[in-house]
Amino acid sequence: MNAVTENVSLTNDLDMTNYWMPFTANKQFKSAPRLLKSAKGMYYTTVDGRKVMDGCAGLWCVNAGHGREEIIEAVHNQMMEMDYAPSFQMGHPLAFEAATKVAEVMPAGLDRIFFANSGSEAVDTALKIALAYHRARGEGQRTRLIGRERGYSGVGFGGISVGGIVSNRKAYSANLIPGVDHISHTHSIENMAYSQGQPAWGAHLADDLERLVALHDASTIAAVIVEPVAGSTGVLIPPQGYLQRLRDICTKHGILLIFDEVITGFGRLGAATASEYFGVTPDLLTMAKAINNAAIPMSAVAASRQVHDAIVNAGPGNAIELFHGYTYSAHPTAAAACIAAQDIYKREGLFARANQMAPKFQAAIHALRGEPHVKDIRNLGLMGAVELNSRDGAPGTRAYDVFLKCFEKGVMVRFTGDILAFSPPLIVTDAQIDEIFATVKSALHSVA
Ligand SMILES: Cc1ncc(COP(=O)(O)O)c(C=O)c1O
Repeated sequence: MNAVTENVSLTNDLDMTNYWMPFTANKQFKSAPRLLKSAKGMYYTTVDGRKVMDGCAGLWCVNAGHGREEIIEAVHNQMMEMDYAPSFQMGHPLAFEAATKVAEVMPAGLDRIFFANSGSEAVDTALKIALAYHRARGEGQRTRLIGRERGYSGVGFGGISVGGIVSNRKAYSANLIPGVDHISHTHSIENMAYSQGQPAWGAHLADDLERLVALHDASTIAAVIVEPVAGSTGVLIPPQGYLQRLRDICTKHGILLIFDEVITGFGRLGAATASEYFGVTPDLLTMAKAINNAAIPMSAVAASRQVHDAIVNAGPGNAIELFHGYTYSAHPTAAAACIAAQDIYKREGLFARANQMAPKFQAAIHALRGEPHVKDIRNLGLMGAVELNSRDGAPGTRAYDVFLKCFEKGVMVRFTGDILAFSPPLIVTDAQIDEIFATVKSALHSVA
């Protein structure tokens, strides 16, 4: 059997009944599966031997490109040396080294790092730290959490409660955590269509937080959590001045500001964090995905010293300060991958590279203006979206068809509703950016 026949029979022989796929139309997928077999650099290879360019860094996470040997070697070596160490009341050196590496690229003062395993866990961790902080300071009545409409903060009960994506909430609506409210989202096609970079309109939308302060009283509010750039809902770029205004309102009322940087962390905007990019520093920052180039599940929360110290210094020296943590917090292999990935980012200057490539990416994505079905285009750094007009009575189907066509033509993109999203690995070249958007253009012409 040659490689191709072997691969094809692998698809035919595969029993797909048992695996219940996440965020996937299971029946549709299993009737015509898209199976990936290997990955290197900017490309996946499918089980039938086709190369597919990765236009979205996996799920916004493989920022240094696939198959990085330094990471593989670090993980392998760590596995050989020590597969696991308990994370409670025991430590191992790589956990501390990984925290130091991560802290080095965090905004100044946000250098106390708590590890978890997914973005959802990082969000729950940050929300719990916010509550613990106020309690430790004698303001335990600050229990209200504020999220934002259209926000995606993962799928834990904390994350979907502060999140604002209806489809992720409605089945669980009676059981969402109590005492949560939402500020309005920042998107308005009327006022910001085809903005290149940050829209000029909309800083005033941050004042919606004042409305909630007036409604609930600041003394009841623990924290506000927002994605600096909303990713999964379709790349919503914050208006100029918006995040600073949110920061100022939080500071004025003693409310903690949490940036959910699960997508924006580690170079997506051309700086280590969105916080650095926008010059706005939160009190807590969640990260995951690219923290170790997605090689092994890992996430983290960076806390300000003020928040950390308030909790850690509150009790006696021999008492656990925060009743929270995971069996796999700072898992040795994840920590090894984290150190190796952070070294790659630094050595190859990948955050700066993303910044250099951003104008090319902006020009290429906006060149789709006027193509069939296109309603809006938006971008920042190396993330962008093309919003399509929906088919009457069948929202989401057009973007799905474009996604399929692109996949058939050798480029992987993402879609959410009728929005196509792009976030290539930071190693993407000019020619590859051209190829991604030329493929999208031809796909747009080929769907009804
Ligand atoms: C901003 C944000 N927060 C949290 C999450 C949840 O991360 P995970 O899927 O690792 O739980 C995501 C995932 O896309 C995200 O984009």
